[in-house]
Parts: sequence; structure tokens; C-alpha cells
Amino acid sequence: MTRAMVLGTGSCLPRRVLTNAELEQMVETSDEWITVRTGIKERRIAAAGEETSRLAAEASRRALEMAGVAADEVDMIIVGTMTSEKAMPSCACLVQKEIGAVNAFALDVNAACSGFLYSLDIADKYIQADPAMKVLVIGAENLSARTNWEDRTTCVLFGDGAGACLLTGSDQGRGILGSQLLADGRLWHLLHMDAAPSLNPALVPADYAGPYIRMAGQEVFKYAVRAMQDGVAKVLAQEGIDPADVALVIPHQANIRILKSLGDRLDIPAEKIYINVHKYGNTSAASMPIALDEANREGRLTAGDLVLFCAFGGGFTWGAAIMRW
Ligand code: ACO
Repeated sequence: MTRAMVLGTGSCLPRRVLTNAELEQMVETSDEWITVRTGIKERRIAAAGEETSRLAAEASRRALEMAGVAADEVDMIIVGTMTSEKAMPSCACLVQKEIGAVNAFALDVNAACSGFLYSLDIADKYIQADPAMKVLVIGAENLSARTNWEDRTTCVLFGDGAGACLLTGSDQGRGILGSQLLADGRLWHLLHMDAAPSLNPALVPADYAGPYIRMAGQEVFKYAVRAMQDGVAKVLAQEGIDPADVALVIPHQANIRILKSLGDRLDIPAEKIYINVHKYGNTSAASMPIALDEANREGRLTAGDLVLFCAFGGGFTWGAAIMRW
């Protein structure tokens, strides 16, 4: 049976580091509060030349280099993002131009923090249909541009960055074994980001407060833990996999407490859960491919390992995927 297997991974982070100590000078907060509640110590903030598509393109070049595949061999580019620098064209088209993937078609997927997971699943389905396809799957965000820097309840949480992986078909038993994607749009209001105001005054919402991320933190926390547990349980049951056989979990990096609760509920020990949220904060759709690339380059993944992905984000959207590395 053909599966979608990773040939190479890459990531790209903006150079500018914003520490908790600097945030203490910007809003009424403390390093201790941020560290205890979230595990975040610092995050990256994009500057000119580090727009979402540029970060995505650089992450893609690194993934292609690792795979030993030329850009013109790529057939499809999918970018999970909700913060591209343009509403049109898609970030994926800008990446295509930037890296010279002249033979690829390209599209974005907006599933908030689950954007990479959703994109991975779409890539898998295309590769099932045509195993020779080479598909670049990217998660890229510029959340600092959509953060209200006067709102301490959100501005300490987010960061910018991009990660990418190149997939193709394999019949060696390696690759994506299965996935579960879920959503509940009835809960959209608990975590959302208004667009730039409509130029039609009749369509500007009465409560419009700028194009920023808004969130009911405690409720999001509770849903996030339960939903990721649900997604993981479903995909492991579907594939008949015992949680004890999972070698590494690459979760969406929202918050250390969410990840600890998830590990406890799934009975997966902390050392099997990859964590880099302390360095980058919550980079939404970018967080899983950045973590995947770091784990890969650190030698944490061995051929044959079972790798579990899980995510939760605005929508709500959530889910999980299991891959044999
Ligand atoms: N610094 C200092 N104090 C703060 C800060 C801050 N940055 N932010 C809020 N506070 C205060 C609040 O005003 C409140 O004060 P009060 O008691 O005087 O009213 C107090 O801290 C506690 O606030 P809570 O909101 O109850 O704090 P909580 O323990 O819930 O932690 C947090 C907040 C970290 C946002 C938590 O709810 C959380 O992690 N939620 C998940 C949100 C998340 O990760 N969202 C990302 C998008 S979804 C995803 O990616 C999964």
C-alpha cells in the first residue's frame, strides 16, 4: 500500500528574539507569570524581508535540500496559514515563485493552529491518488502582525516562523498511516481574529476591535486538552496502535500546560513529547513543522519510529495523524 513519506524537512525563524524580560517593559506582566502559565521564555518576531511567504520559502528550500529534490520537481504546494502578507494571491503561490517551483500548483489552507495537520492530510490524499507526486507541505505564520501588543492576555503567547516538509509516495510501509480531522464551527467565538475592516460600512461588525487575535483563554485551554486527546484516541484506535508504541509525539506547541495535561491523559511520558514552545511561543500552523524539523535534525527520529502529530486551533479545528518514520 502506498503511503505519503517525508523526504526532507526544513524550518526558518525570524532573527529577532523577543524575551519575557522585554515584554515586562511593554505590558503589566512578569517572566514568572508567563513561564508558569505557558512555559514560554522567548519568541521570534518577523522584520522586513521576513514576511510569511519569505519564511515559508526559506523553510521549503531547506526541506528540498535535505530531500535532494529540485524545486521544479515539486508538483503541489500547500501552505497552512492564517497570516499571509496578502489576502490574494495565496501564500503558496508566493512560495512557488520564490523557490522556482514552476511545475507545481499551489493553495493555502486556513485551519488556524491545525493548518499544518489539515495540509498534511490533503497531501496524503493526493499522494494516495498519484504516488509519484512530490508535495511540499508548509506551516507559516506572522502572528506578531495580528497581535494587540497592549493586551497582556494574548501578546505574551504568540510568535512568528515557518516549517516545511516534502512528501512523496512509498510502498515500504513508511509514511502516514492514518489521520483524523475534526472541527466545530459553533465555538468560533472562543478564539478568533477579525480581518481588516470591510470597506462596506454596513458589514463592519458593531464590536469590531481591530484585526487581532481574541481568545477566551480558560475555555480554549479546556477544549484544547480534551479535543487533542479525542483526536489522538480516535486515530490510534483506527490504526490499532497502542500509545506505548509511539516513539515521539510532535504536538502543536501552544502551551506547556496543555502538553503536560495531554501527556498525562494519554499516559505518554514527557520525554516522548517534543517541546520547543519555550523558544518560539505559539506559532500556530508553523509550530508542528518547526518542531518536526528540529526533532529530525537533532536525530530524534529513526526509520520505523511511530510519530504522532496532534493539533488544536481556532474554528475550533483539531485532529491527529500517525506516521511511520
Ligand atoms: N501577565 C500577568 N497577568 C496576566 C497576564 C499576563 N500576561 N494575562 C492575564 N493575566 C492575569 C489576568 O488578568 C487574571 O488576573 P485577575 O485574577 O486579577 O483577573 C489572572 O492573570 C489569571 O488570568 P486567567 O486568564 O484566569 O489565567 P489562566 O490561568 O487561564 O492562564 C492562559 C491564561 C495562559 C492564556 C491560559 O488560559 C491558556 O493557556 N489558555 C490556552 C490558550 C492558548 O494557548 N491559546 C492559543 C491558541 S489555541 C491553541 O493554540 C491551542
